[in-house]
Amino acid sequence: MITNIVTSLFILTLIDWSSGFNLKTVNIAFEQFTKQSTTFEQHISNFTVNGIFDPRFKPNVCSQTTTEQNPWLIVQFEKAYIIQAMRLLNRNNNHHEKLNNLSIKTKLSRDISITNFESFQLFNFIEKFLVSSGSKSFKCKTKPHYATTVLFYINTLNPLTLCQIEMWNLKNLAKHKVATSSSFIGNGYPRNGVDDLVCAIFNVDGIACTHTSLENLPWWKVDLANETIVYAISMIGDLERPGRSMNAYISVTENSTIPVLNMPILCASFNDILPNYSTVRCPKLTIGRYVSIILNANTVLTVCEVDVFGANTNDIIMIYSIFVNGTDYHHLNTRFVKDCNGHIKATTNILKENINHFRIEIKGVGIENICQKYNIMPVTTFQIGDRKYDEFCKLTNVNNGYFIERDMYDKCSYSCTCKSHLCHSISLYDISKFESLVKEIFVFLYPN
Ligand SMILES: *[C@@H]1O[C@H](CO)[C@@H](O)[C@H](O)[C@H]1NC(C)=O
Ligand SMILES: *[C@@H]1O[C@H](CO)[C@@H](O)[C@H](O)[C@H]1NC(C)=O
Ligand SMILES: *[C@@H]1O[C@H](CO)[C@@H](O)[C@H](O)[C@H]1NC(C)=O
Ligand SMILES: *[C@@H]1O[C@H](CO)[C@@H](O)[C@H](O)[C@H]1NC(C)=O
Ligand SMILES: *[C@@H]1O[C@H](CO)[C@@H](O)[C@H](O)[C@H]1NC(C)=O
Ligand SMILES: *[C@@H]1O[C@H](CO)[C@@H](O)[C@H](O)[C@H]1NC(C)=O
Repeated sequence: MITNIVTSLFILTLIDWSSGFNLKTVNIAFEQFTKQSTTFEQHISNFTVNGIFDPRFKPNVCSQTTTEQNPWLIVQFEKAYIIQAMRLLNRNNNHHEKLNNLSIKTKLSRDISITNFESFQLFNFIEKFLVSSGSKSFKCKTKPHYATTVLFYINTLNPLTLCQIEMWNLKNLAKHKVATSSSFIGNGYPRNGVDDLVCAIFNVDGIACTHTSLENLPWWKVDLANETIVYAISMIGDLERPGRSMNAYISVTENSTIPVLNMPILCASFNDILPNYSTVRCPKLTIGRYVSIILNANTVLTVCEVDVFGANTNDIIMIYSIFVNGTDYHHLNTRFVKDCNGHIKATTNILKENINHFRIEIKGVGIENICQKYNIMPVTTFQIGDRKYDEFCKLTNVNNGYFIERDMYDKCSYSCTCKSHLCHSISLYDISKFESLVKEIFVFLYPN
């Protein structure tokens, strides 16, 4: 079923980098606004979000505050995003302890006139960082955060130094999976491409990238272990050897055949050197288990990290409902309920929110098509006397964000009402019509 859809949607697109097409990052922090408590010499805050994964502590590379009590740095987005994971690159020279006791917190408000640490919600706390010149990734401790501002601080008397900050709503499925390559030399193991250490300078503090021999059509490949809907692939190249990503073809395949130039599902190809940090988006509903990079040249292939964003086709669908009122938000409990016709709905009790009309935005990768076809039907429930009533929400707008938005989310907007009665619940109906295509859905409720 899924394979049929893929075949029918499949378009072989050759993407020319020089046209600037399809390289939009999925890293929410990339080139966003930053600010830090103080600045030590030339170590300004925006080096943390410039996409240059250099951990060497020298001018114009990492951010650093002066030595002070509770130093902090914030990253602020132009609009609110779901944040589920972050990755931080630490400086070199065995200074890993400098990021000990690091708190990561978020808030929905863009008001940073007073940095009151208590007004932020804890995303994660890092007691011991342990790697220098390398990175570590962190997931939110509980449910996904919805934020416009992210705060990093340490509760000690120290400078705060960060070399790169990445943030995602999407999940990286390549991390620590099995990787292979056409060949490797020295310590350029293929697994270095998925070790979660994003250092883009070969062998700083012993951290290496992948490295094949000089050969015709060198390749690298990762096995995602399960059938996966691949949305996007990010590659961090070797800053000192940019030629090692010449004429790259990036593909997704269902079986583990040796990569060749014309694989059936091509996500992107380039007739030039890839930028040091680039992201390609695969055609919608690209499904496979292996992601490969092959260079159409007689050269060396070197990549420092490859992140593959997507969802396993056998994942169960996750639906998060979030009530947003101005700069406050909270998660609501959504449960799956089978109705008398055997249809499964995702139902969220909203009686406590005390509303009788509201609007919702449903966001998720690839949901646009499903909203247009009325496969997601949001419906409210309310009660008059002993009788229960249902009222379908009205679709007001649909945005396709797959190739446009950093979070890749499509957005379907609806207006919902319970006439003049208190709303008891809102349900998405009917899950079986879309659960094979969409694995994560966010329902934002806004009181009118
Ligand atoms: C980073 O900050 C410097 C100094 O404030 C500014 O000149 C530069 O344009 C900023 N770069 C980016 C990418 O925002
Ligand atoms: C972390 O903070 C705690 C409590 O504030 C302190 O006791 C501890 O020494 C700190 N750890 C490091 C490595 O600075
Ligand atoms: C692949 O999917 C199976 C079944 O859901 C699961 O048990 C297994 O852990 C998955 N493997 C990986 C590497 O994610
Ligand atoms: C691998 O997949 C390709 C395309 O899907 C197919 O042509 C080829 O026969 C497959 N090879 C094996 C060994 O299954
Ligand atoms: C990669 O980064 C280096 C060092 O910052 C820079 O000189 C080079 O132009 C970059 N290469 C590309 C293709 O952007
Ligand atoms: C939204 O927030 C405002 C101000 O905090 C409050 O007065 C109002 O009752 C809230 N509305 C809902 C529906 O929670």
